[in-house]
Amino acid sequence: MRYRWWRLVVFALTLSVPLYWLYLAWQFALGPDPGKVLVDNLGQGALVLLLLTLSMTPLQRLTGWGGWLAVRRQLGLWCFTYGFLHLASYLYFLLGGELWRLGGELVERPYILVGAFGFSGLAILAMTSSRWSMRRLGKRWKALHRLIYPIVIIVLLHMLWVVRSDSARWFLYAGIATVLLLLRVPLMAMTLASVRGRIKARTNLK
Ligand code: HEM
Repeated sequence: MRYRWWRLVVFALTLSVPLYWLYLAWQFALGPDPGKVLVDNLGQGALVLLLLTLSMTPLQRLTGWGGWLAVRRQLGLWCFTYGFLHLASYLYFLLGGELWRLGGELVERPYILVGAFGFSGLAILAMTSSRWSMRRLGKRWKALHRLIYPIVIIVLLHMLWVVRSDSARWFLYAGIATVLLLLRVPLMAMTLASVRGRIKARTNLK
């Protein structure tokens, strides 16, 4: 398998982050409300992984290195996993496992519904990420996986609702997402490819 070590490094890093947070919770090192910190960290981790997944294609276009694409699917699946753990820790720590309170929560905090839309989109992408689904869906697979763009916007809206008073972090993520979404516009993608061509030509000249 190509890029075996690179894939393993990405796997080990993405697995070790939530394990480290769990370890900190175990050591009572997450402050007075460890459940809330875990929910926030996992939500933010899922968003970072979503943006990383989106950045793999532009990075491949810019550098020509195939390793970026080799880990794209894995990063997408990790994003779903972090999203799932974010949801599970919300249900366990913040709702105390009292699922019947969910209806009231949705009315009181509509951002939960927005998050649920984002999570449902991620679940669809994760369930159809296998080679088998790719073959079965054919051209429709690509169209379906364009869902990632509205998902980014939905998740940013979900986060904005939560962090209203501390919006600096939100602007950082929204700025990165805007650049990544703009790079998918065909003209920008062509510009990226031509930048790479120029860099390559210059390094060949030296
Ligand atoms: C059913 C699905 C979801 C539920 C129930 C949910 C629930 C929550 C809750 C309750 C909070 C606020 C916690 C607090 O009081 O601080 C939160 C924050 C957040 N969520 Fe979600 N969420 C969902 C899906 C998602 C998804 C799919 C993502 C990302 C891919 C995400 C990313 C975030 C982020 C970035 C924050 C802000 C964290 C911070 O303040 O640092 N959420 N979510």
